Amino acid sequence: MADSLKIILDTDPGGDDIFAFLWLLSLVKQGLADLAAVTAAEGNVAARKTFTNSSQILKLAGFPAIPVGRPVSQCPKPGADAGHIHGTDGMGNLSQTLPPPVQDFETAPRADDLLIEQLNASPEAITLIAIGPLTNLAAAEVKQPGILKKAKEIVVMGGAFHCPGNITPTAEFNIWFNPAAAQIVFDSRNDIVMLPLNVTRELVLTGDMAKAITQDNPNGDLAQFMVRLCQFMIGTAAKHREVVSDPGFLVHDAAAVSYLFYPEVLRLRRARVRVETQGVWTRGQTLMDDRSRAKSSANAWIALQIDAPSFFTRFIEDLKGII
Ligand code: BDR
Ligand code: CA
Repeated sequence: MADSLKIILDTDPGGDDIFAFLWLLSLVKQGLADLAAVTAAEGNVAARKTFTNSSQILKLAGFPAIPVGRPVSQCPKPGADAGHIHGTDGMGNLSQTLPPPVQDFETAPRADDLLIEQLNASPEAITLIAIGPLTNLAAAEVKQPGILKKAKEIVVMGGAFHCPGNITPTAEFNIWFNPAAAQIVFDSRNDIVMLPLNVTRELVLTGDMAKAITQDNPNGDLAQFMVRLCQFMIGTAAKHREVVSDPGFLVHDAAAVSYLFYPEVLRLRRARVRVETQGVWTRGQTLMDDRSRAKSSANAWIALQIDAPSFFTRFIEDLKGII
């Protein structure tokens, strides 16, 4: 059997984070991934909540021993989170229905310290999946310059290229939340992989898909949670016009998992990504240069196409294995 991929998940759960997280855990269960740690990030909801949510998800899915890092809270506050989409607790207001967290916020390691420790211990071996604002990764890079180069690969859900943003007309939420951090991460190496809104807007998870995932054990705790979270997310997506086709919600963050385990569903291209860190109206906008002239060197791989039906076939089949 092939070696499993050693991963640290940096996440701000978040409804779509939770589906990406559970998909990854289903791959751990299959022996295809090894989740070394989770680093919670401030973003969709406040630091304490994303930490607690991460811990509760690990417990619910049967992986309570995986360490969780406490979010670095150092970015200038943009004045908003995404609780209106994900619920005030970040979990569709379902956190009270889950087992209490195992890890303790006060005594947990800081996320940047955990990243530094793990990357120093296993250079070139760890893949970082970052599906929240990039504050933790940037803090690690500032604390130990060059540390992000020690990752095997860094896969980021974020950005929007030649398409509307989702938090402002031009910016995607994760980059907008802490654009300075994003710039530090893009400057840290020349092969960051990005899954921007261009592709994640195609990923509409429907209630029928959630039922298909849970059909073999519909009354199990995880199945009930998944279906209820999906229903909640579909409601807020409709209210905020995130999805204008069939009722469903966008599982943006799951695109990062597909890149690593099912790259055949994506098409990517090289580009130099720049982040607007100063703009009054364009804070957090991501840019690439499509003019027909020679470019300065690229720093990223950007996904621009996804085969959504093939993505969901794989997503649903894997998630059935964890229910
Ligand atoms: C990203 O923003 C968050 O609200 C989601 O969890 C996702 O990571 C999409 O723009
Ligand atoms: Ca997220």
